[in-house]
Amino acid sequence: GRVAVLMGGSAAEREISLKSGQAVLAALVTKDIDAIGVDVTKNPVHPLLEQRFDRVFNIIHGRGGEDGVLQGALEALGLPYTGSGVLASALSMDKLRTKLCWLGAGLPTPRWMKLQGPEDVNRCAELLGFPVIVKPAQEGSSIGMGRAENENELREAWERASHYNCSVFAEAWIVGREYTAGMLDGEPLPLIRLETPHAFYDFDAKYRAETTCYHCPAGLSSEQEATLQELALQACDTLGVTGWARVDLLVDQENRPWLIEVNTVPGMTDHSLVPMAAKVAGLSFEDLVWRILETSFS
Ligand code: DAL
Ligand code: MG
Repeated sequence: GRVAVLMGGSAAEREISLKSGQAVLAALVTKDIDAIGVDVTKNPVHPLLEQRFDRVFNIIHGRGGEDGVLQGALEALGLPYTGSGVLASALSMDKLRTKLCWLGAGLPTPRWMKLQGPEDVNRCAELLGFPVIVKPAQEGSSIGMGRAENENELREAWERASHYNCSVFAEAWIVGREYTAGMLDGEPLPLIRLETPHAFYDFDAKYRAETTCYHCPAGLSSEQEATLQELALQACDTLGVTGWARVDLLVDQENRPWLIEVNTVPGMTDHSLVPMAAKVAGLSFEDLVWRILETSFS
């Protein structure tokens, strides 16, 4: 059958998605699959009605592609697709509701406070102290995020994050190490440890900087690695995440893990993490893409 590789979209991560999409398309073509790239600009459904497709490889990051909206449309069209379903996509796109789910399941996630107006800045300082990291609840690739050390910076970070047309929250800053765990068809990939001289793993550190270091294997004992992988699996399970995903987490100086978020359409660029972990697990980029496509068959 014919596969539509949906890429682009209108979210802030459009450019990243186009890169991911081109790489995925090239890999499918190498595997002799009848795949066609579809650069979605507004409505992702139109191109699917104009041509006959049998299946969708969804690589649109962010709102409109990763948040359940597209997944719902594909369900209605009866088209099988890669990645999580409607509910898990919607929950995972919203970092605040993700946290509520984890809290309900007894899984560790840093304390936070929703910032709804300037008056919340003082309350937040009392509740969480400093530093904090301020995030738009529904963006990806660290877009709109900022670290704040005091009330002035918190106000500024809140204002910047408010441009993204979604809820904004502050999260307690965890001092420690940053990891990410790729998931493929219910199995964890090797963990990656991220190291950056930037204040955090921001957009620049993700896609441009030469100074970001990726450690895979992550340098953990096999016991620690297994514990974090199990936690990542539980994090996905709680949200109903299926197919493939990437769980971001931190480990503090007392060796306690903290769940940060789940990406249900992780990046597949040449700087991206799931392909890096897959390679260490012995899967080439092409094989990884094929395995992700396979998850749309179940
Ligand atoms: N949100 C970006 C694409 C990622 O998770 O890789
Ligand atoms: Mg993300």
